[in-house]
Amino acid sequence: MKVEDMLIELTTTPKEKPDLDTLVFGKTFTDHMFMMDYTEGQGWHDARIVPYGDLTVSPAAMVFHYGQTVFEGLKAYKNEAGDVTLFRPDENMARLNASNDRLCMPHVDGDFVIEAMKKLIAIEKDWIPARPGMALYVRPVMFATEPYLGVSPSAMYRFIILLSPVGAYYKEGINPVKIAVEGEFVRAVKGGTGAAKTAGNYASSLKAQEVAAASGYSQVLWLDGCEHKYIEEVGAMNVFFKINGEIVTPMLNGSILPGITRKSVIELLQSWGENVSERRLSIDELIEAAHNGTLEEAFGTGTAAVISPIGELAYQGNKTVINNNEIGPLAQKIYDTITGIQTGTTADTFGWRVNVPVN
Ligand code: PLP
Ligand code: COI
Repeated sequence: MKVEDMLIELTTTPKEKPDLDTLVFGKTFTDHMFMMDYTEGQGWHDARIVPYGDLTVSPAAMVFHYGQTVFEGLKAYKNEAGDVTLFRPDENMARLNASNDRLCMPHVDGDFVIEAMKKLIAIEKDWIPARPGMALYVRPVMFATEPYLGVSPSAMYRFIILLSPVGAYYKEGINPVKIAVEGEFVRAVKGGTGAAKTAGNYASSLKAQEVAAASGYSQVLWLDGCEHKYIEEVGAMNVFFKINGEIVTPMLNGSILPGITRKSVIELLQSWGENVSERRLSIDELIEAAHNGTLEEAFGTGTAAVISPIGELAYQGNKTVINNNEIGPLAQKIYDTITGIQTGTTADTFGWRVNVPVN
């Protein structure tokens, strides 16, 4: 398939653009979407850009029954001059195909998908908010469509790219969020699907999230599924802690999502000569550091959440306030640098930015 050969059907009823002051994350979608289909024996076919709208899918489609589905999340940024960029989309394609491997789903051609994504974004360029802290969220999603009730990998799939103009993921914005450490439920286990970006991981996280939200916490911090002892990640972010000068993030162990922001932050910190480690970090070590005053900062990293300082942790009924519930200097510096690279105000010395031709 070639992007030039793709069918493009433009809408005749474009929607009104949203009011950016009241935009809620993930509720507004643009006028068009990209789609393609996979059939065993034929491969991917019928790549097309069509008006955004509902789908017709068999009620027997295997995704509804056995959950074979994966997704990605990245953002397109527009600066004041109107230039549009993506941030490390090749990393999203590599992770998508790693998720596909885990879920027994076929690979996509990452280069083709990035080209199709650029084409879609160019069509929707007027939907990209050019304000600081805002972007066009790009959501590729792929799911099993074969109508069949046998438990086996589907022979048919659909791949879609949706676009959604967004601001901050948390209502707190860049201000610190309150996180509850989850001691009972687990998100993922070694050997499970935790490292894949698949719907089931999020479905299994909802219960703990609901309980935490009822007590005023934005998200939960997951502990490992075997011993409930080692820190893994937050619902939509990886986590970093600065303890006595060392910046620690849990090592990838098969049950944590390998975040692209996480990877970028590690690379940035290394380039600054900071002492950054990927290692096991127990909740006991973290709480002890908070009590003895060596826990300097905590923050989460993710595409939707960007860099989100953690101002308070609740664990076993006790609350720990971190850095006076203020944004720490390290989190602020990383936020400024990453968002600067993403939007083009900071030099892209790593070659992370990918231009999207929009004119
Ligand atoms: N962990 C989970 C569970 C996530 O859903 C996300 C969001 O994508 C992340 C971590 C952060 O990953 P990334 O930085 O690639 O967005
Ligand atoms: C992202 O940051 O892209 C995510 O996928 C988080 C999401 C679950 C909203």
